[in-house]
Amino acid sequence: MRLLSRSALSLLIAASSWAVHATPAENDAALLKLATDSGCMACHSVLPAAKRADGLPPIAPAWSEIALKYRDDPTASDRLTQTVMTGSTPRSRHWTGKTGATAMPPNATALGEADARMLVNWLLVLVP
Ligand code: HEC
Repeated sequence: MRLLSRSALSLLIAASSWAVHATPAENDAALLKLATDSGCMACHSVLPAAKRADGLPPIAPAWSEIALKYRDDPTASDRLTQTVMTGSTPRSRHWTGKTGATAMPPNATALGEADARMLVNWLLVLVP
């Protein structure tokens, strides 16, 4: 007995080839665009920034530094998604001394939680 009709099978093949159509580079480009459109790249960079011209530390940690810091932390995705939405509190910061004096403001007006989670899951695997 055939499990799938011919048309169901071709639909399945079409759907799966569509799903794998985006190459990793295209995926990176789409997420970098989402990060840029959401304002993240005004403070963050993908790789550690060279020292700022004024000699001050960078405004925010680079994605690759965040990925390294939380690479063995299975709760990072959930926690960081919340941090992105609500901002980092000045009194319990994780990057004190490594970045400038200002904490991260809430980003909930710039993007929804699903997009925040997508960005966090993307940047968490950007380990160099
Ligand atoms: C106005 C500057 C600014 C913007 C805009 C900004 N961030 Fe941040 N972000 C920071 C700073 C500063 C920190 C370091 C906070 C700390 O010390 O815990 C940070 C930390 C983070 C962290 C790590 C938090 C932790 O607890 O280690 C993540 C993840 C992050 N940002 C993601 C994002 C995403 C995604 C966006 C865009 C939706 C964004 N940020 C927009 C300034 C910013």
